[in-house]
Amino acid sequence: MVEEARVVGPAAQAVEEAVVETSLRPRSLAEYIGQAQVKQNLSILLDAARKRGEAADHVLLHGPPGLGKTTLAIIIARELGVNIHTSSGPAIERAGDLAAILTNIEERDILFIDEIHRLNHSVEEILYPAMEDYAIDVMIGKGPSARSLRLSLKPFTVVGATTRVGRISSPLRDRFGAVHRLEYYDRADLATIVRRSAGILGVEIDAAAIDELARRGRGTPRIVNRLLKRVRDYAEVKGDGRITGREAESAMQAMDIDDEGLDTTDRRLLAAIVQKFASGPVGGAALAAVLGEEVETIEDVYEPFLLQLGFLDRTPQGRVATDRARDHLARLGYEIPPPRRGDRQDPGLWDGVTSDGRLAVGDALGEAP
Ligand SMILES: Nc1ncnc2c1ncn2[C@@H]1O[C@H](COP(=O)(O)OP(=O)(O)O)[C@@H](O)[C@H]1O
Ligand SMILES: [Mg+2]
Repeated sequence: MVEEARVVGPAAQAVEEAVVETSLRPRSLAEYIGQAQVKQNLSILLDAARKRGEAADHVLLHGPPGLGKTTLAIIIARELGVNIHTSSGPAIERAGDLAAILTNIEERDILFIDEIHRLNHSVEEILYPAMEDYAIDVMIGKGPSARSLRLSLKPFTVVGATTRVGRISSPLRDRFGAVHRLEYYDRADLATIVRRSAGILGVEIDAAAIDELARRGRGTPRIVNRLLKRVRDYAEVKGDGRITGREAESAMQAMDIDDEGLDTTDRRLLAAIVQKFASGPVGGAALAAVLGEEVETIEDVYEPFLLQLGFLDRTPQGRVATDRARDHLARLGYEIPPPRRGDRQDPGLWDGVTSDGRLAVGDALGEAP
């Protein structure tokens, strides 16, 4: 279950993918597909900054991987006609590293900090006055004679990106004038993205194939683009390079990606909940142990799309595989034991629920027979 190997994994992969991603990146807000609300708000923010000739407000972008956060940061810089300096939470190790970056920034430039939830505390402390007052405090000397000196910076804009907005400290979050959440893309938007990417890559693809990819793309531009490239390879080897619906479908079958866009990893996760935990609820730690995975990987990488698809529910007692998930697995030939707790509408099926409606804890976390 190595993320790098997953065709439908949302994280960016090898170097060649980065190169293709660059070529497929929309270069302006107008070219950026979907996310209408975010685009509208950003365009107002950018207009205002341009009109005033000032640095734009700091912008925080959050949402699952592959939805276009980095792309938007680059677009913001382009639209403002300024430079973008790119770094990331884990890359800025010491306060001095950030100070060095900040003192090199030109007026109105963008500082893009990816994975901003991973900044360490001492670095964050430097960032607060930098964002608020365009200034940093540096310590001169050591011991009793040490004094703090305020250094002013050129006005600039931080664009932060994160997959885990809940991990961002509130003082940091409060310093962003605009906070935007990117949503999963619907099928129509994904289809538009596939069509656009096919055009850029010079791939011939018909409407049926575009639909096949959009349906399996997990609401994620990075994934539909990757599927497109895989299908192109398949069509070149097995046919004349043109991608039809049938070719798209056989390519997906060859990659073991089902008609909902789930791969073997997703199905293994759902099957574990359904078969080993009687469809749940199951806690993250128990599920992680059964799958041999880190809890964080399950939460960040595997679960978001299953939640979005309505295959998983998160309850205070843990995850629950929904009827939709059970039906999906049943269609694929999985054995489906009866769920421990049934439909909320039908209290008769709430086995293991105490009279006041709470789940008995032992039951909720117990191993399936
Ligand atoms: N709105 C969009 N329209 C078209 N393509 C997009 C859009 N958002 C993302 N992409 C494509 O998806 C890829 C991944 O986007 P990226 O910005 O790197 O995601 P994130 O930073 O959120 O992980 C980009 O290379 C780009 O080609
Ligand atoms: Mg990114």
